[in-house]
Amino acid sequence: MSNLFALNHGDVTIRVVRPRDAKTLERLVLSNREWLRPWEATNPHGPTSFDFKAQVRSLLRQLDNQEGLPFVILYRDELVGQLNVANVLYGSVSSCVIGYWVIPQVAGKGITPTAVALAMDYMFEVIGLHRAEIDIRPENSASLRVVEKLGLRLEGLKRGYIHIANAWRDHYVFALTKEEVPQGVLNRWTKGLVPKISYDYDKKLRN
Ligand SMILES: CC(C)(COP(=O)(O)OP(=O)(O)OC[C@H]1O[C@@H](n2cnc3c(N)ncnc32)[C@H](O)[C@@H]1OP(=O)(O)O)[C@@H](O)C(=O)NCCC(=O)NCCS
Repeated sequence: MSNLFALNHGDVTIRVVRPRDAKTLERLVLSNREWLRPWEATNPHGPTSFDFKAQVRSLLRQLDNQEGLPFVILYRDELVGQLNVANVLYGSVSSCVIGYWVIPQVAGKGITPTAVALAMDYMFEVIGLHRAEIDIRPENSASLRVVEKLGLRLEGLKRGYIHIANAWRDHYVFALTKEEVPQGVLNRWTKGLVPKISYDYDKKLRN
């Protein structure tokens, strides 16, 4: 996987993070604490690091090892967030997990679903993965809308899955396999072809 390429649709571009993005990411994350904190992974063993240079280095190591694809999200050429493809597995699993955030100033413009669709299509069509997963806290209604718009399937609830805002938090698991979207994730969404799914969140919680 190259660290030079970018994927684009309309005003939204995702490109691989660069070391010089660390300063901008630091500014955006530190100036939007209230917005990001409820959804941000924390260190269960101590304080969470805000060393963005180290974070970008670690993301680029994952890229070098072909374990991840760390993108930044640009809106009209300005860096406004991150989309991270992590836990990339090949062979008989061939799957990945996607996480994301954008700054509140650009929320509600459909930037994240576009970025997710671009990334998923790339992972399916170019890297050759078979399944992409997104995990979301039940309380995160904005993020639930992102996967609903793209028609991801609700698979269940992982109890205490990720340490977020200083506690182990449940997450809904959403996924798509490549076979479910032969026409492409972005194409299916922009053409209005996403099937209407009635998400049974309560039932998944009881099971
Ligand atoms: C979740 C998140 C990535 C969505 O990104 P986005 O680019 O705004 O996505 P969309 O434009 O599709 O909006 C999704 C929903 O957000 C809500 N929303 C819209 N404008 C909003 C605003 N100004 N403020 C808060 N929420 C807003 C709406 O419910 C919208 O759904 P709708 O289009 O059906 O009305 C973004 O809200 C975010 O970064 N939140 C903080 C970090 C986070 O939650 N990350 C995800 C962890 S799983």
